[in-house]
Amino acid sequence: MAEFDLVVRGGEVATGFGTTRCDIGVKDGRIVALGEKLADGARVVDAAGTLVLPGGVDSHCHIEEPSRGGYASTGQAEPPLTVNEESFATASSAAFAGGTTSVVCFIPQWKGYGVWERYADYRARAARGMIDHSFHQIISDPTDTVMDQEVPRLVAEGVRSLKVFLTYEPLHLNDAQYLRVLTKARTLGCLVTVHCENYEAINWRTHELLKHGMTAPKYHAWARPPVVEREATHRAIALAELVDQPIQIFHVSCEEAAEEIARAQARGVKVWGETCPQYVSLTAADMDRPGFEGAKFMCSPAPRSRAEHERVWEMIRRGTLDVISSDHCAFSFEGDRGKRQNGSDAVFRDIPNGIPGFTARLPIIFSEGVSKGRISLDEFVRLTSTNPARLMGLAPRKGAIAIGADADLALWDPKKKVTITNALMQHAIDYTPYEGMEVTGWPVMTIRRGEVVMRDGKVQAEPSTGRFLPRGPYAMIKPRGITPDGFDPAPPPAA
Ligand code: URP
Ligand code: ZN
Ligand code: ZN
Repeated sequence: MAEFDLVVRGGEVATGFGTTRCDIGVKDGRIVALGEKLADGARVVDAAGTLVLPGGVDSHCHIEEPSRGGYASTGQAEPPLTVNEESFATASSAAFAGGTTSVVCFIPQWKGYGVWERYADYRARAARGMIDHSFHQIISDPTDTVMDQEVPRLVAEGVRSLKVFLTYEPLHLNDAQYLRVLTKARTLGCLVTVHCENYEAINWRTHELLKHGMTAPKYHAWARPPVVEREATHRAIALAELVDQPIQIFHVSCEEAAEEIARAQARGVKVWGETCPQYVSLTAADMDRPGFEGAKFMCSPAPRSRAEHERVWEMIRRGTLDVISSDHCAFSFEGDRGKRQNGSDAVFRDIPNGIPGFTARLPIIFSEGVSKGRISLDEFVRLTSTNPARLMGLAPRKGAIAIGADADLALWDPKKKVTITNALMQHAIDYTPYEGMEVTGWPVMTIRRGEVVMRDGKVQAEPSTGRFLPRGPYAMIKPRGITPDGFDPAPPPAA
């Protein structure tokens, strides 16, 4: 019997800390050997001419997420229950098509409801897909029952991050509620991830814009300029510093917000910054396309400008922003769950926020980053795979090409030129905001736990083969033990 189930032969293996030409031996879904001229396995993949990357880890994506009231104000008394169009099956295809092999996605909480029931439902949904998955728990209503009884049960199950929104009706938390989540996370040993925009400021700007008849999609950006993101980022960090609770700031769109993170990092605060491909490729001008087209580019924070893209790249190079996720949160353009769900003349406030981005994430960042010389190949690997795996407590099983790691690999043709079309995205959505974008560098094969799940764009994976990735305690998100005056009303768990 062959020593290996699979040998990936002759590729340029990119570890995130240098590249080396070697073979990869896989047994039982794990990497068991790295070496020159390994013996043949039961199957051999010829990787000559490709870069062999650790499979992408997308630590921020919304898949098959049931919502009550959605992300827009519908004006209805009893908001309807809807589910993202992207199912775990379609999301898995999209992810594999783009070289991503693991995701961390969101269990919802609706105001007035608990979370435990949602967890069971979401586990069952995710189990139907093909991609390995872990969960963040959204907290929109931190009641005693939720925080003291249900969240500890979830953490015991391996859900080790909580997501809070400082804006959006009906999800946003006020400062007292945010502090409650921070303190509970500290006592349980969780990471808190934060959507930073100022709720009241956006409401005020929105009200004034609508009053002046400024209703088109482009005014989405006017309602939430960088200053509202900077203010909320500053506040999110200050309160986390008060509690001494590690946080990650999600989807940073601009230098102003990133500078807040950089200043806190320089003080030693445990705060990490994430950005997304849309903040280095889409602009506010895209939301000013004719008719309703601008809705295709609406997400929050809003896309900024070409000049801002360069500033975001600089914050990436400085290491302030060390994770690039997709924030895939997809609504088709057409259909009753899509961007037009409140009509083709809906005011910007009532158009759902979010764009698809699973498949395009790695190609856009490789092309705009590595091919255009803005970042190195090592940085690309760390930003899109190694760093998110480490911060989410999934390393070294995920995000690494190393002995013992899961054999999750993306074979990458760094010279392949592709014009992005919606068909290439393989998602359930009827458009991509990146239609027509030309990229250099594309995944030609994706391997999940030693199994080829995408070859030359053809996804081949059985349903219900994705695994849940429970997360235990890990050192990276341990509080520093520094509180003002040493007063510590919410001590972390004993090591
Ligand atoms: O517009 C966005 N980003 N929608 C998704 C929800 C979120 O804020 O992460
Ligand atoms: Zn968000
Ligand atoms: Zn999101």
